[in-house]
Amino acid sequence: MKDHVFILTIFLVSAILISGIFIVIFRSSLPSANNQKEVQNPKQKRFFFFALLAFVLIVLLTITIPKSPYFLFAKDTPAQVVYVNAQQFLYHMAYKEIDPLAPEDDDIELPVNATVEFRVTSTDVNHGFAIYNERAELVTQTQAMPGYVNRLRWQFAEPGKYNILCLEYCGAGHHSMRASFTVK
Ligand code: CUA
Repeated sequence: MKDHVFILTIFLVSAILISGIFIVIFRSSLPSANNQKEVQNPKQKRFFFFALLAFVLIVLLTITIPKSPYFLFAKDTPAQVVYVNAQQFLYHMAYKEIDPLAPEDDDIELPVNATVEFRVTSTDVNHGFAIYNERAELVTQTQAMPGYVNRLRWQFAEPGKYNILCLEYCGAGHHSMRASFTVK
């Protein structure tokens, strides 16, 4: 919830700033009473606008980059690692490296309030790996890509059943591609 408020605040502040810049540009481009007169100090004005733009960008990036999920729980040792192998149109999940010949772990259980790591890959095309809580809210997500292992770290604050849905159109059975796990 705190993050939602933070993102909404960032969005509103950016929207107001960008609207402000557009209004200034619009007003300065209106023909004035003495429109024969050339713009005074055009280079200085251009520099002022670029400096303002750079300032806004730097402030926004400084605030938002540390919030990026790449740094989440980076220093933790995961309490549990789950290997995920996506393929048309299902997810194989196991606590150990996935061996296509070995049976997978059907009922994945993860600890609540502990850092867990999903190592997500795909054997065919790009898939999504999106985790939803019981209220069908998107909690976190990554891509499942052939030839890459994406590590997704998360701490589940609520126990319950979580569903995994594919967020990348991957073929005729895309809509049926889902799995679930339990957090206790
Ligand atoms: Cu897999 Cu859509």
